[in-house]
Amino acid sequence: MVLHFPDDALLGIMAALDEDTLAHCSRVQTLALTLGELMGLTPAELLDLNRGAYLHDVGKQYLPERILRKKAPLTPQEWELIELHPRWGYGLAEAWGLSPGVNRIILEHHLWANGQGGYPQELMGSKPGLLTQIVTVADVVDAMSSHRPYRQALDLAVGLEYLEEHAGTIFNSDIVALFKAEIYPFLRHSG
Ligand SMILES: [Fe+2]
Repeated sequence: MVLHFPDDALLGIMAALDEDTLAHCSRVQTLALTLGELMGLTPAELLDLNRGAYLHDVGKQYLPERILRKKAPLTPQEWELIELHPRWGYGLAEAWGLSPGVNRIILEHHLWANGQGGYPQELMGSKPGLLTQIVTVADVVDAMSSHRPYRQALDLAVGLEYLEEHAGTIFNSDIVALFKAEIYPFLRHSG
């Protein structure tokens, strides 16, 4: 069993994040760790997953508040900025001397499981690591089921539908199936 909360060293790197992003990162961390434990990952893998899941959006601290809080659809220029946050986060994590496994999660968390889409563009064609693929599923579950400035929270069932629709492309099919079987029923009932 690993810690479900960040060690103190990680709090400093996250301090500049806005409250909503911080709360999102915490929820993704818990969900990703639950998946990782169900998958029987090693303690070393769980440690990287714990940190990488918590830090995955750390690069968002460089995004202007007006973009993070924008209610209207983002412009192409604003999307270009958003798409830089994995690279920014990776740079931060490297500077903090975090492990390559953690850094990789931060860099790859918007890359499709099959390597054929998402961003950063320069990684297109390479598949993200297994730990990243866990975080990607956890990230989408939380992003879809929580309130965002531009929309209300969607029903968790809509989130599951989206995961299943894109299993094998954006998402790892086995992780989606595990989420559906082992976690979704409990989240449904916890409201
Ligand atoms: Fe992100």
